[in-house]
Amino acid sequence: MCGIIGITTGSGPEAGDQSVLDVLVEGLARLEYRGYDSAGLAMVGPLAADGMWRVRAANGTRSLDDLIKGTKDAPGHPSAGIGHTRWATHGRPNEGNAHPHADCTGNLALVHNGIIENHLELSDRLIDDGHHFESETDTEVLAHLVESHLAARPDDRLAGAVRLALGEVRGAFSIAVVHASDPDVIVAARRVSPLIMGVSDGAAFLASDIPAILGLTHDFFILDDDQVAELRPGSISVTTLDGDPVEPDPLHVEWDLDAARKDGFDDFMAKEMHEQPKAVADTLLDRLLPDGTLVLDEVHLTNEEFRSITKVFVVACGSSYHAGLMAKYAIEHWARLPVEIDIASEFRYRNPVVDGNTLVIGVSQSGETVDTSQAVREAKALGAKVLVISNVVDSSMARDADAVLYTRAGPEIGVAATKTHLAQIIALEILALYLAQVRETLSPAEARGLLDAMGALPDKVAEAMERGDAVHAVAERYRTSPSFLFLGRHVGYPVALEGALKLKEISYLRAEGFPAGELKHGPIALVEPGTVVVGVATRTPVWEKMIANIAEVKSRGASVVLVANDGDVETARHADDVLWVPATEHLFAPVIDVVPLQMFAHSMARLHGLDVDRPRNLAKTVTVE
Ligand code: G6P
Repeated sequence: MCGIIGITTGSGPEAGDQSVLDVLVEGLARLEYRGYDSAGLAMVGPLAADGMWRVRAANGTRSLDDLIKGTKDAPGHPSAGIGHTRWATHGRPNEGNAHPHADCTGNLALVHNGIIENHLELSDRLIDDGHHFESETDTEVLAHLVESHLAARPDDRLAGAVRLALGEVRGAFSIAVVHASDPDVIVAARRVSPLIMGVSDGAAFLASDIPAILGLTHDFFILDDDQVAELRPGSISVTTLDGDPVEPDPLHVEWDLDAARKDGFDDFMAKEMHEQPKAVADTLLDRLLPDGTLVLDEVHLTNEEFRSITKVFVVACGSSYHAGLMAKYAIEHWARLPVEIDIASEFRYRNPVVDGNTLVIGVSQSGETVDTSQAVREAKALGAKVLVISNVVDSSMARDADAVLYTRAGPEIGVAATKTHLAQIIALEILALYLAQVRETLSPAEARGLLDAMGALPDKVAEAMERGDAVHAVAERYRTSPSFLFLGRHVGYPVALEGALKLKEISYLRAEGFPAGELKHGPIALVEPGTVVVGVATRTPVWEKMIANIAEVKSRGASVVLVANDGDVETARHADDVLWVPATEHLFAPVIDVVPLQMFAHSMARLHGLDVDRPRNLAKTVTVE
């Protein structure tokens, strides 16, 4: 979380074509999904007052608008600048804690994504040395630390001081630093938190993520852990923390900025839900052969290696975790392998039992979520085979893994995952069928039947999407209800969890998901007349038991909304309202059944007048532990 951006064009006659201010502001708008507690930028160059110009704003989701207003007096031709959009960790989301942070002289400005774990220890020392701190953040210590090294060894210039400073730091960071005394230069570095860079038209730039600077180039360089880059107009040089030169890895990206536009939809979430049938179809594309076999080109594990697997772990966070939970049912059922699924932040620190015959699947839309990427690294260090399911090509996790299966949902901007969630379920189901294929745990006829059903999923998702008006009408009926229980059994259980997560994250309503069978062991105490229970009651082998659980809440006065298969009047009889969906093979049902719950949450948030793309306190990519 937090997004950083920087550009240097130089200020001489050779200066690049881009306006530093425009690039920073446009880039920050595209990085906002990483946090919007505050926004800020600093620019250096001959026309900036005292060689440095800094503006910051903290006004929740309006921070960027306020920042833009604050730039009306910006100097005309700065040579370089850095910008930041914040998701607060250390220090309240106010202007004083907004980035960029400055050193004591005001000549140095720095932006940071990550957490400096030993900031207190370092700041105590720097305060004893006479440094004056102005914010409550962990980041400010970096500005003073670089300042102190620069003062001690001015000949090493800014890059040398940054290298020495980072050698003292524990934690995760991607940073960009400018100094008024060297106004053509930006120094950047990273450990764990992502950072990409590019060069074009006499400029050089950096950002936390590709969309921020995609308008400037399609060719990027990826900075690796503990590397420091010096960006000058038209060039980038990279070294290790010891100062040894290294060549950064290149990355070419085909997609363009169209994907980051709303295309007439009111918000990105609506647009991205609308794109779900395509996301599912594209994720299936070329992986299902006409003869019914599955092909997984990017999975660089041999069939021998797949056959040697005795246990599967899935590690993920948020909606990706729910996709993983859905996959557990499919992998166990089809491939007959035991599957454990773990919240990524729990996996890493509990000494998990994995070995060379364990397949650890990391599921992450961004491929940058730090809890998941660290879990994946831990698994690899313990000797497991690691497969990552990521939507972002060449993401950190994809680079760390033994094998990658990409979802092909296209960029997702809305904070609440929708199309990428469906694509993840599909990718995991493809993997489950692939495991079954190489382990020969399904007969060819069974496999063929499943593949046919899978091929029909994009159309069925599209059909489910067409019911938006009906779902909206149901949401309207429950608009004033303060709390919701989501229930499901078997594959309906993770669907219930995802439905509850969607509702709570964008509508701020109390919503909890439970396995319906567990109801009687506690959650049923919450049920009273007027409680809204949303049940996933499509036809699975446990449908009758699910209906019995629904009867239990109905008899206690709950209002019942059920997700049911088209034409299933028997299920409808138990409901006050029905969210209809097309039927499919029951292990594929989550892909379809979750759709009305996404639409329900979206309608509810709109009915409450909320900004669905920028829910409070959240960020799309969480790069702090
Ligand atoms: C954040 C987002 C969620 C997402 C989760 C995991 O919490 O708001 O929508 O599911 O991170 O993200 P990942 O990129 O790892 O899938």
